Amino acid sequence: MSKQRVLTGITTTGTPHLGNYVGAIRPAIQASERDDAQSFYFLADFHALIKCQDAEQVHQSTREIAATWLALGLNTDKAIFYRQSDVPEIPQLCWLLTCQAAKGLMNRAHAYKAAVAANQEAGEDPDYGITMGLYSYPVLMAADILMFNANEVPVGKDQIQHVEMARDIAARFNHHYGEHFVLPEARVDEQVSVLQGLDGRKMSKSYGNTIPLFLPEKKLKKHINKIKTNLLEPGEPKDPDDATVFQVWQAFATPEQTASMRLAFAEGIAWGEAKRQLFELINDQLGEARERYNELMDNPVYVEEVLQAGAAKARAHSQPMLEKLRAAVGIRPLG
Ligand code: TRP
Repeated sequence: MSKQRVLTGITTTGTPHLGNYVGAIRPAIQASERDDAQSFYFLADFHALIKCQDAEQVHQSTREIAATWLALGLNTDKAIFYRQSDVPEIPQLCWLLTCQAAKGLMNRAHAYKAAVAANQEAGEDPDYGITMGLYSYPVLMAADILMFNANEVPVGKDQIQHVEMARDIAARFNHHYGEHFVLPEARVDEQVSVLQGLDGRKMSKSYGNTIPLFLPEKKLKKHINKIKTNLLEPGEPKDPDDATVFQVWQAFATPEQTASMRLAFAEGIAWGEAKRQLFELINDQLGEARERYNELMDNPVYVEEVLQAGAAKARAHSQPMLEKLRAAVGIRPLG
């Protein structure tokens, strides 16, 4: 039986933070160990250009994200780990799909609609600042997914609609040209925690409330000390379910450690002490990976080699697939 194909992309616009680790990177690395599945994980650097026109930032983020996944132990003998832009078949497929994608479907994309709504609210022209990149973003994402006939696409809730659009576009292509594409399914893991940030909202770059994953020890401690708490004094019982410190603890702790922290809250542990323990817990778990990360950041030539090897594996799939698709649409040698 052929393996389930699991595929997901990471847009290269920022520095990985604890929320990315808990919500996406850690479960993806675990899933890549499954024997019944082949994972495809890639750096979505073409997608980055939609959100970010700062060339240095796109480059630096690519470097950091690649180093992060490798430092955390992604096994690249098992998982196919590559950079989107190293697979030229993807933008070609994107065009074939663009010619099948209904404009009306793209009109309904949440990200595009939000941009239009923001313009209207600001009294601007509805199209103000909206590029064709943003508008057709879901088609590029469909190309990423369909190129490798992925069955499962692990994503956050905000991306479900994009995976559904990929299904729509795939079905339309299949209808015209024959059964070439598997219809992918979004997988939203309900068990994976959504980490709270410093201010108690979801940890997210757009809220500016993140704790970067591989901060030096001292800075990690400082950030953890900035997590929002209330004014309860040492000795006063505290409600763990209402505390970001506890919520973050839970994302890193074993069930036993969680139970004992719960007890400590009931017994009135001081905020400072809870944060000290949280720092120890995270620092112990990430310390070794942080060392590897720093080594990898100092050795971009090696990271590049790993990405090139990944691209070669990805292209072993994408080249024959594109050949077949080109022939299907009528683009083939005359002789
Ligand atoms: N758009 C996704 C995000 O912002 C990243 C992404 C690009 C992706 N291509 C993909 C995710 C294909 C899953 C499959 O999170």
